Amino acid sequence: MENQILQSKLDWEDTFNTITDMITIHDKDFNIIRANKAAADTLGLPVLGSGKVKCHQFYHGQDNPPDNCLSCDCFETEAPVAFETYEPHLDKFLEIRAMPRFDHNMQVKGLIHVIRDITERKKVEEALQRAEQMKLVGEWAAGLAHEIKNPLAGIKVSVEVLLEDLNISPDDRSIVLRAVGEIKRIETLLKSLLNFAQPPKLQLTLIDMNALLDQTLDFSLKHPSLSSSSSIEIDVSKDFDKNIPLMQADLVQLQQVFLNLLFNAIEAMPDGGELNIKSDYDQNAGAIKIEISDTGKGIDQGIMDDIFKPFFTTKSKGSGLGLAITRRIIEEHGGVISVTSDPDKATVFEILLTIQKEKR
Ligand SMILES: Nc1ncnc2c1ncn2[C@@H]1O[C@H](COP(=O)(O)OP(=O)(O)O)[C@@H](O)[C@H]1O
Ligand SMILES: [Mg+2]
Repeated sequence: MENQILQSKLDWEDTFNTITDMITIHDKDFNIIRANKAAADTLGLPVLGSGKVKCHQFYHGQDNPPDNCLSCDCFETEAPVAFETYEPHLDKFLEIRAMPRFDHNMQVKGLIHVIRDITERKKVEEALQRAEQMKLVGEWAAGLAHEIKNPLAGIKVSVEVLLEDLNISPDDRSIVLRAVGEIKRIETLLKSLLNFAQPPKLQLTLIDMNALLDQTLDFSLKHPSLSSSSSIEIDVSKDFDKNIPLMQADLVQLQQVFLNLLFNAIEAMPDGGELNIKSDYDQNAGAIKIEISDTGKGIDQGIMDDIFKPFFTTKSKGSGLGLAITRRIIEEHGGVISVTSDPDKATVFEILLTIQKEKR
């Protein structure tokens, strides 16, 4: 008999701890009286009744249950309740279900929490939502860009013709030239709008990543849009991994990616600073890592979630499309782009690309 009891105790503990969802058992006074292994590992709770802790104290650091307390709802309704939440200290999205436990008189004696990590599902949902949003914005932007393009070309030609014919003073000429310059700026913006809205299909060729980085860096440092600030001192350093194999990618589109990141880095350092480009090849993972870092303004934590969104900009003359286009291109290549920043100090953009075909 004793053996049987012991065996069933072991069986239930074993089952409880094998379940990969996090499970906690609570009494009527909000004490967490048991936690299975998954809950103990992830939440840092003691396993199997080795102590009592009130759930509102453990989760919210409060002596009483919070206003939106799931357990309270469950006690009140005597029925299962569920909700989804983001736990900042775990950096995880959790689905939490609470179910009442009844004694043999059908009185609620406590409840069970079943907690599932839904972070991966949330990420997929977010990516789908983003793709949908990009598509809508894209269609709208393409329509608008087409409408503006032709009249704008007309204005530019008219002004240029006037400029040739008119015998105007140098001062007036410089004003008209400025107008032409502004028209060109709108044209560039329209081009990136259309590029964003109607992305060209990937044209894959074999690419030497270091050569591409080198060439794009040269181009960006000489670009006329930066020549007005040519007096600023930017200390450029390169740290290339020589063992990167050739990889299949779209040369023009990757060039666009690096240009966007380099321009942003340079624009973040109006008083000069350090720009570093690093490439790394991880042979085991078959992945290339590219890092573009600057010692510029940095990015405030509060806007970190926004910088990749189309039209988000903090610059008076920005389009807010650079990073949106950049992320789209990287994702089309099956890669990921991420950013870390220390406000007022430094920013690092990191790109990870997997090599599909190796040659060299
Ligand atoms: N290297 C960087 N340092 C600081 N802020 C940056 C950097 N790169 C991007 N950002 C921020 O992200 C925003 C969006 O960038 P982007 O999409 O390229 O648009 P734009 O450059 O036209 O503003 C910028 O306005 C800026 O606030
Ligand atoms: Mg930009």
